[in-house]
Amino acid sequence: MASYDDLMSLSVRRGFLWPAADLYGGFAGFYDYGHNGVLLRRRWEDLWIETFLGLGEHYHLIDSTTILPEAPLKASGHVDHFTDLLVACTRCGETYRADHLLEAATHEEHEGLTPEDADAKIRALNVRCTKCKGDLGPARPFNMMFPLAVGPSGKDRAYLRPETAQGVYLNFKREFEALRRRLPLGLAIVGRAYRNEISPRQGTYRMREFIQAELQIFMDPEAFGDQVAYASVADVPVRVAWAAEKNEPSAHDVPARDLVARGLPSWYAYHLVEVQRFYLDRLGVPRDAFRFAELDERERAFYNKVHFDVQVRQESLGGFKEVGGVHYRTDHDLAGHAAMSRERLSVTVGPKALVPHVLELSFGVDRNVWALLDLGFRPGERNVLRLPPRLAPVTVGVFPLVNKDGLPERAAAIHRDFRRRFTSTYDESGAIGRRYTRMDEIGTPFCVTVDHETLEGKGVTVRERDSQRQIRVEEAALAPTLERLVFDGVPFADLA
Ligand code: GAP
Repeated sequence: MASYDDLMSLSVRRGFLWPAADLYGGFAGFYDYGHNGVLLRRRWEDLWIETFLGLGEHYHLIDSTTILPEAPLKASGHVDHFTDLLVACTRCGETYRADHLLEAATHEEHEGLTPEDADAKIRALNVRCTKCKGDLGPARPFNMMFPLAVGPSGKDRAYLRPETAQGVYLNFKREFEALRRRLPLGLAIVGRAYRNEISPRQGTYRMREFIQAELQIFMDPEAFGDQVAYASVADVPVRVAWAAEKNEPSAHDVPARDLVARGLPSWYAYHLVEVQRFYLDRLGVPRDAFRFAELDERERAFYNKVHFDVQVRQESLGGFKEVGGVHYRTDHDLAGHAAMSRERLSVTVGPKALVPHVLELSFGVDRNVWALLDLGFRPGERNVLRLPPRLAPVTVGVFPLVNKDGLPERAAAIHRDFRRRFTSTYDESGAIGRRYTRMDEIGTPFCVTVDHETLEGKGVTVRERDSQRQIRVEEAALAPTLERLVFDGVPFADLA
């Protein structure tokens, strides 16, 4: 198990990520990615796109500007409701998020408090400024959007987008027409979002600039249940923590059909199963480290009717932490934009006219990358990062056993050939053990070593990161073997 400091040290040492502008002491809530971090992040995004756009025939990736004018964000409710509760110390002026102060005092979550609730709890628990022990002033809502003044006059108010979702809603009508008026229609954006968080903390967990991967599924809630393969997943157990149990480290396995019996739409339960499959089967998250956490009426976002967070247990962050969410946003957004823009956003599909409802599958990319590092990194005698082979920044390391007798030339030729298919790295410096160690630490799943037997036509060795086992593979079979291991998910033990 890795602590937060272990992971940050690995991230900085091995080119994953670090605080932005750290040359100048850092910039709270902002992080930069290095060469391995960008590769890991991109591979996670590619897998996400492949998985979730694969859920529907008419699901596509689009893009939008990151600066949005004020009117759509007024219509969506963000100008008036996208707030967290801020409290300031009356003596030194230090500012805090009210629920974070209470969480630190009680080790429980306190989302969805009114200012009055927060004040009452702060008084009851005698919570004081953690810096100077001064009295805390009254809690007040603080809008988390970054405002901008666009143009030289500064009269056109705008904001950095607080979620990618609004970029999709603004483009729904155009895409609905371009995609020949079909529902369900899925539109996804993978891109940056910005929030002026009161207290950015825990590395990439609470950032002020971060990346979201969000799929908005536009649908008719009365027809959608028949358009997904719910019957095929009805018996699949879904890991759930009910709203009242969120502060416990536990979860139940609840068959999807029982969730429906409790009142969730069948299409909602179906998508919980698909999201769970992404985490367990594709990302390799252990079952007991994954769960959906239900949010009750007070806790869920102002636009949601049904809201379960996706949580992954991360020792570096102290337990189960949100990495995504499954949100039933109803027609809240399209109806709001129709009213504000005075454009018709209702559509006619078959005999029925409706404003489509939205099921949103929303994920924070940075939080998911951190979760992979947390679950994968085992510091110790061998510092190993156990990433799923497909997600590892470097897929294969190629080494000559020794730096003579023509072995470097032969290994370099294999590496050059690999570069067309995999992310390959060539390393001839230092003892072979040290080269394996360097690869283990960045999660490289396989290493190929050229030795004297290679020169006799007896193939190369392929070493697996996790078991450290080695097999001999003929050179002609090398690339297809690696392809099976990396892209088809064939276990190394099967080949060994
Ligand atoms: N469009 C819906 C939406 O934005 P959200 O729960 O506010 O919902 C979605 O955000 C996801 O974005 C979260 O589950 C989380 O993974 C990520 N996220 C939100 N705020 C973040 C922050 N300050 N830093 C890093 N990731 C964040």
